[in-house]
Amino acid sequence: MTAIIGLHSLTKSFGSQPLFKDITFTISEGNRIGLLGPNGAGKSSLLKIIMDLEPANDGFVSKRQGARIAYASQDPDFPSMPLEELLLNQPLKGDEIELRTRAQILLGKAQFTDFDQDASLLSGGWKKRLDIVKALMQEPDLLLLDEPTNHLDLEGILWLEKFLLREKVAYLIVSHDRYFLENVATKIIELNRCYPQGLFISEGNMSVFMERKEAFLEAQLQQQRGLANVVRNEVEWLRTSPKARTTKSRSRIQRAYELISELSDVKGRNQTNRVGIDFSASERETRKLLVGKNLTKAFGGRDLFKGIDVTLSPGTRLGIVGKNGTGKTTFLKLLAGMMPADVGTIKYADELKLVYFDQHRERIPPHMSIREALSPNGEFVNYRGQQIHVNGWAKKFLFTPDRLSLPVSCLSGGERARILIAKLMLEPADLLFLDEPTNDLDIETLEVIEDSLQDFPGAVVLISHDRCLMDRVCTTILGLGGVQEHQFFADFAQWETANKQAAANKKGAAQPPAVGSTAKSSAPPQLDVQTAKPRKLTYKEQKELENMEESILKAEESIVELQLQLADPKVHADASKSLELYKKLAESEKNLESLFERWEYLQKAN
Ligand SMILES: Nc1ncnc2c1ncn2[C@@H]1O[C@H](COP(=O)(O)OP(=O)(O)OP(=O)(O)O)[C@@H](O)[C@H]1O
Ligand SMILES: [Mg+2]
Repeated sequence: MTAIIGLHSLTKSFGSQPLFKDITFTISEGNRIGLLGPNGAGKSSLLKIIMDLEPANDGFVSKRQGARIAYASQDPDFPSMPLEELLLNQPLKGDEIELRTRAQILLGKAQFTDFDQDASLLSGGWKKRLDIVKALMQEPDLLLLDEPTNHLDLEGILWLEKFLLREKVAYLIVSHDRYFLENVATKIIELNRCYPQGLFISEGNMSVFMERKEAFLEAQLQQQRGLANVVRNEVEWLRTSPKARTTKSRSRIQRAYELISELSDVKGRNQTNRVGIDFSASERETRKLLVGKNLTKAFGGRDLFKGIDVTLSPGTRLGIVGKNGTGKTTFLKLLAGMMPADVGTIKYADELKLVYFDQHRERIPPHMSIREALSPNGEFVNYRGQQIHVNGWAKKFLFTPDRLSLPVSCLSGGERARILIAKLMLEPADLLFLDEPTNDLDIETLEVIEDSLQDFPGAVVLISHDRCLMDRVCTTILGLGGVQEHQFFADFAQWETANKQAAANKKGAAQPPAVGSTAKSSAPPQLDVQTAKPRKLTYKEQKELENMEESILKAEESIVELQLQLADPKVHADASKSLELYKKLAESEKNLESLFERWEYLQKAN
């Protein structure tokens, strides 16, 4: 595999804060790399250094001659310009028609329908998509993506997964989304000061990496214990026979000091600071905190959802899932009383304390200092009736006192998100309504949040595109806007399966399988897991399955055929011909996809 870029002893710090030191690795053709690391480790800075957008303090990046590297940042922003023009408005090689065709094909692939739309008005998720498309316009050899799944909804993430797996480009993706990385990365690099080189490189997917990381940290801990024993003996030896020092071998004394310093290094690496997150509950015991009946909402004559019954009690962990625009946030707002229902009633327990959190809408003014943002009312915050000094409070969120006067604009994405979570923790609640609370947060912080949400004594209603978080926290899933009306499921995986089956059935014109009924109460719905499985195949379906392999083979052949045609320089030179072929290719790919889905469904039921 030829190398595309090499990083050589890169070192970066901001003022006295070292981010990373002597980082060295290469990225070669075909690499599908996931880059992990705690918030503030310097991942975004590393990508910016590769792109020459920021200088390194030391070391350099070598690039293969002519290598094209494209980059999509953590927080894209666009000027007011039609999508297609925006894609063309960057340094590109090729003639106008060819480029326009490519822009249209890419926009189509990313599921944009109106190419004249104003880019500055897109939602966060669609801006992310556009930014990736913009990077791909450059036909890069290497694609650098900084947290591409933030702000994407689940459908967007699934789209991106497929998209990346199909493109032949090498990539390095910064992400904290564990399931996403599991699906798209075949090599994981973690930037973390807990490693001696500041870096851990693991060939293989995310689960392999997790195992190796655990083994490594365990070994490092053993090493610390062993070293501590040796150091204890050596120190004892130094202490007990001072007179003999002159006669003692100098090298042993020297060695003892080296060991002491090595021990302090290892200790430093083994020390991990975790964010202290604990949501405040008002500790009420009421059985029913909220009872919603027959909740119905329509917009512009279209029903978003209809007749939903829900009861939230202490301990309820309800996740809401569904594509963009299916009404997840509307449902949450409706429950929170921020928006009226068209039909239906909601009853709240007396003096209910409800906290609603929406990361997209919470903004901290960028010029505000970290101190002010964490503690707006002076030196102390009131947490669960206790006055805590801002320095102590900041430490809980891993901000050291010397950084408190920095403006928020200097913080990394995850550090900013931590400030928002800190604010959230100050509000005592019976009901926590969380709309995408975890964008940008690193895996360790996510785990702390997951634990804290599991322990929260009140009820939690959660919207998130992080499948791992949903899996770990939610005990009931409300699926909106599927092929059928709303449904409750026992877990996230069950919702995914039911959705896939329903889609496959819709395409195959078969009746959707009977999947659990609309639950009537909030207590984990009495869902018969068995019912989520497809029923037995009919004779016709059996025959269909037998012929499926051949259809798939044919579909694959036609795709290869189209790809071959498209690779022909003569076709390439003919813009209208190549656009037509690309359209056909997109159709064939879609067809193949539905064949696979159908095959998967029939196969499972068989
Ligand atoms: N101009 C600056 N002045 C001071 N500190 C800065 C500046 N820019 C970045 N930093 C600090 O450098 C550190 C690394 O930032 P970076 O954005 O690279 O982190 P990251 O690993 O991408 O984090 P995240 O996972 O949260 O996105 C952060 O602690 C940030 O506060
Ligand atoms: Mg970052």
